[in-house]
Amino acid sequence: MDIIEQAATLLQSGKLVAIPTETVYGLGADAKNSIAVQKIYDAKGRPNTNPLIIHIPNVGAMSDWAIDIPEDAYLLAAAFWPGPLTLILKRHPSVPLIVTAGQDTVAVRVPNHPLTLKLLKRLGSGIAAPSANRYGRISPTTPEHVLEELGNSVDFILDGGPCAVGIESTIVYLLGSKPLILREGSISGSNIQQVLGKEVIKSIEGLEIRSPGSSSSHYAPSKPLYLLEKEDLHDMLLKLIQARKTISVLSFSEKPIRPNPFVFEWITFPYDPGQYAQQLYQQLRVLDENDSECILVEMPPASEPWLGVKDRLQRASRPIK
Ligand code: TXA
Ligand code: MG
Repeated sequence: MDIIEQAATLLQSGKLVAIPTETVYGLGADAKNSIAVQKIYDAKGRPNTNPLIIHIPNVGAMSDWAIDIPEDAYLLAAAFWPGPLTLILKRHPSVPLIVTAGQDTVAVRVPNHPLTLKLLKRLGSGIAAPSANRYGRISPTTPEHVLEELGNSVDFILDGGPCAVGIESTIVYLLGSKPLILREGSISGSNIQQVLGKEVIKSIEGLEIRSPGSSSSHYAPSKPLYLLEKEDLHDMLLKLIQARKTISVLSFSEKPIRPNPFVFEWITFPYDPGQYAQQLYQQLRVLDENDSECILVEMPPASEPWLGVKDRLQRASRPIK
């Protein structure tokens, strides 16, 4: 049996299949099967109050999952699908409430990965899938990461190689008077604004809408990660060395020539938001798994193309004491 057929058969019998997407790997179940979807929450240790994204094969399938679809949704779909953009729309009555965490809104996207698109077409249904990590942890961008995160609780991993984008999709809420970005990603507010020809607003703390990731720790390594401006990073490094702490560094600068026994690993990142995003989670895993006690990360630039990676780093970081 070929792997697509195998994955489809498992999904149809209520099993969990990890799917490759261009952003991160998803932990998928048949979106119409409530019992299978419950297994996703159990496998991740994710509270039932946090809704899932439904992955669909094409824009035509949007009306199977959502109603009263605004014109903006079609404009954005035409511009960015298949691709790293999730739309929040009004839920179709046939969508099981477990997928939307009881809400009357639904999240949908067409992912841009040839294997998953093939699988979705073969299924003729939707796949409900959050990122395939344990709750609050770093999202997986390779099949090996999925296995590390979920082990036996996933029935099959569809191996689509490393993810090309590397951070999760941009999420846009389309039910308000203006489009609202709930989560930053590689598609920026300006990209969206350009397509819609209208103002796009950003999610602010305290908004009534269930905001993805929320303010709690998320996308996080298990050891402390401190996010610092370039000029503060050096001081922090010295302070930690004096305190005899072992450190890993993720910076735009080259590793200092003089070795220091307390600096275990120094990774130099490209000054390009796309390449940075593609490598981010993979490298955070490397630094989380080595023997250092903490991770120092140089703050990326404040400009718009960096908002996605900056958001993930902020959620992964701890306050500086
Ligand atoms: O790139 C991605 O979006 C990846 C791949 C696998 O598609 N998926 C992903 O799923 O990041 P997850 O569950 O890790 O993050 C989705 C976020 C959650 O924080 C959830 O709260 C939010 O989307 N979400 C889902 N449905 C929603 C809804 N109806 N209203 C508001 N937020 C929603
Ligand atoms: Mg996630």
